[in-house]
Amino acid sequence: QLPKQVTIIEVGPRDGLQNEKNIISTEDKISFIQKLKQSGIREMELTSFVSPKWVPQMKDATEVIHACLDDTRNFVLAPNRKGIDRLNETNCKAVAVFVGVSESFNKKNINKSTRESMEELRPIIKELKEKGYFVRACISTSFYCPYEGKMNEQSVIDLCSEFVHYGVDELSVADTIGKANPKEVYSLFSKLKDELPNTLLTGHFHDTRGMAIANVFAAIQVGISRFDTSAGGLGGCPFAPGATGNVATEDVVYMLEQMGIETGINLQKLVEAIDIIRPLLSRPLESKFYKLQNL
Ligand code: HMG
Ligand code: MG
Repeated sequence: QLPKQVTIIEVGPRDGLQNEKNIISTEDKISFIQKLKQSGIREMELTSFVSPKWVPQMKDATEVIHACLDDTRNFVLAPNRKGIDRLNETNCKAVAVFVGVSESFNKKNINKSTRESMEELRPIIKELKEKGYFVRACISTSFYCPYEGKMNEQSVIDLCSEFVHYGVDELSVADTIGKANPKEVYSLFSKLKDELPNTLLTGHFHDTRGMAIANVFAAIQVGISRFDTSAGGLGGCPFAPGATGNVATEDVVYMLEQMGIETGINLQKLVEAIDIIRPLLSRPLESKFYKLQNL
């Protein structure tokens, strides 16, 4: 049974821009985010509280949050206590923590073992939930790791279950390097849905090998109705070599709307948002729908 409605979580301003070589001014980021909101996006990862030495593009996180908070769900990514302390100085009430299933990836991304990250996050999540925050956990390398290859499906399910036990509201299950195929996506999401029926499950697919839109389709066949996407297909993780952007928001919206599945997003306004960011980027955008608009 396909869902009637799908929620898009726009991650362009965070996942999309974190790896961009050109430093984008805070002002331009804010214009981009505001235009994205005008297109009907109701959930968005605005930025991240990570080390400015590791990810310089996100160093203006506090300013971006102050300018962009509104009554929709605005996430900020934070991997550790320091990130949560910075979050507490803002009015942002939705946070995304992140951990890799793969030890090698987690070490490269957060400089800790997966277990060390989990031990650090457990009390943090408890505290955030007591204070009424919405908490999502992003599970990186849920299918493949750039260093360790194919991940064991049961290990992914176990890590997800552990996060649910800690109290998270949502799991964003990520194909970090865009290597998963629709069969693997169908299998993992079916099992997660059976085992964790009370948790919001979200697909986060990078498009490195052109599989991302097919993976979205595989997940909606399981009944998954939330997807992280990035406008223009911007992005990639700086600690996953070769990883390209997320599946493009406009390509997913186009596919779903054509199938009669509502997203609440206006494609024309979405294109106007991408028009703001495109000239500032160091590389061309690969999104199919956006390219067609510019023919
Ligand atoms: P570290 O060097 O081990 O950290 O890095 P540390 O605790 O030793 O601290 C070193 C310095 O960083 C100190 O400053 C800290 O204060 C500072 P100094 O004393 O040298 O001036 N620091 C911070 N500053 C600001 N905000 C913070 C913070 N924490 C420490 N939160 C650390 C550890 C986690 C900080 C580092 O590894 C890091 O920033 N990693 C982030 C990497 C990142 O942003 N990756 C991309 C996002 S994840 C992703 O894209 C995947 C996802 O899309 C899903 C998928 O596709 O898989 C979500
Ligand atoms: Mg990502």
